[in-house]
Amino acid sequence: MSVHSDKKTTTLVTLLNKKKAGEKIACLTAYDACFATILSETGIDVLLVGDSLGMVLQGHDSTLPVTMKDMVYHMECVKRGNRGALLMADLPFMSYASESQTLENAAALMRAGANIVKLEGGAWIENTTKLLAERGIPVCAHMGLTPQSVNRIGGFHVQGRDTEQAQSIIDEAQLLQSAGASILLLECVPTKLAKAITDMLDIPVIGIGAGPDTSGQIMVLHDVLGVSPITPKFVKNFLTDSTAGIPGAIKAYVEAVENQTFPSDLHSFK
Ligand code: KIV
Repeated sequence: MSVHSDKKTTTLVTLLNKKKAGEKIACLTAYDACFATILSETGIDVLLVGDSLGMVLQGHDSTLPVTMKDMVYHMECVKRGNRGALLMADLPFMSYASESQTLENAAALMRAGANIVKLEGGAWIENTTKLLAERGIPVCAHMGLTPQSVNRIGGFHVQGRDTEQAQSIIDEAQLLQSAGASILLLECVPTKLAKAITDMLDIPVIGIGAGPDTSGQIMVLHDVLGVSPITPKFVKNFLTDSTAGIPGAIKAYVEAVENQTFPSDLHSFK
């Protein structure tokens, strides 16, 4: 295990200031203590304990089987390894279906070490966002492609390609900011739409498959290291060109996000 760095702790204020200053925010998923240390010491601002763990760790073909028990376990592991990154945790499928369930599950993730919880949805999570934010639990609203709804959507497809759908994503993003969301995460939407939403909102907008103009980028750790079984268009393997192993690959990712060489057109949707 490497030594502690003197990197300061990242907070939501840090991220807001970065957006205001036009500095890009670099985020990655993490699921264990060892990687949490490497990633946070290499300059990652936000570590997401994502329900993608159902696919990359557990081998499921969607995130739906992931439970609260899984999320709390991995959150606790990441918390132990973290060296100053902001910690975000997913509320898994059906864990925010009622008010009492939402509060109980979000509280469990915060007790396990999360600084903010992420939930997927549009207008229908407005009240949930308000409920959590009013009780001191920061919310990241995940919009665009929402993998927990894969059965309704009919696959992992780009969202917001037609004018009507794009406008409803814009309206719902505004609604969720007004409801108290602290971060918006946009997955698999066209570059132009992600830019419009990023420019419109005050809160940081983090993109994955959303082009280079969002306030920052997030990727699944296994994708960045080229060990995922599937590689969507927006994925880049940073390990291939690394001469310094995994820390070198993570450093290259952080630098590419910061100097805006990633994502390129090759990794974005028109
Ligand atoms: O669960 C996850 O890892 C995510 C990312 C794809 C953003 O939500």
